[in-house]
Amino acid sequence: MLNIILFGPPGAGKGTQAEKLIDKYGLIHLSTGDLLRTEIAKETALGIEAKKLIDKGELVPDEVVIEMIRHEVEKHLDSNGFIFDGFPRTTVQAKKLDEMLANEGIDVDIMISLVVEDEIVIKRILKRGQLSGRSDDQSVGTIKNRLDTYNRQTAIVEERYKGRNKHRYVHGMGTIDETFDYIVKEINKLKK
Ligand code: C5P
Ligand code: MG
Repeated sequence: MLNIILFGPPGAGKGTQAEKLIDKYGLIHLSTGDLLRTEIAKETALGIEAKKLIDKGELVPDEVVIEMIRHEVEKHLDSNGFIFDGFPRTTVQAKKLDEMLANEGIDVDIMISLVVEDEIVIKRILKRGQLSGRSDDQSVGTIKNRLDTYNRQTAIVEERYKGRNKHRYVHGMGTIDETFDYIVKEINKLKK
């Protein structure tokens, strides 16, 4: 199995790169953001609660996203592997993910952080918001809250995988294909 965490601030290009990686390596794409947006669209109790937090740029409680991921991982244990996109977002989530995978005899192989400056992510997210209508992509204020949340609660998760020599930075400000090439180079190094 090949298990990848795609990391980086909102708007770094995690979802875009995940789509290309699933095509190339036949992996299962697990985006907690997408799973939450499905709950919102279905107007489930979970979705209604999550929307309040998402629209403020805050995080949904750890237990909620961990259980969503657990459910999806269990469904796809016979796959080639997973791309975790937008998860883990806290140290607790990372610890639980590692435990969950270890119980199945698997592990995170690599965490790739897409490096993109704040001004660029703000521009990208506003543009995405015009096309997708995502409510948390509409205002600079909400986007800045999401960046704050990332810096306060999420960025530190890198340290966990750096400590295990599983973390790589990838320049994420070029074209989609350039970024993809950098990611593929890092993945191919794992196979040697
Ligand atoms: O990953 P994405 O940017 O699509 O997530 C959108 C929003 O969903 C985040 O800004 C956050 O409010 C919420 N989320 C969360 N916990 C996660 C993933 C997403 O709270 N693990
Ligand atoms: Mg995304």
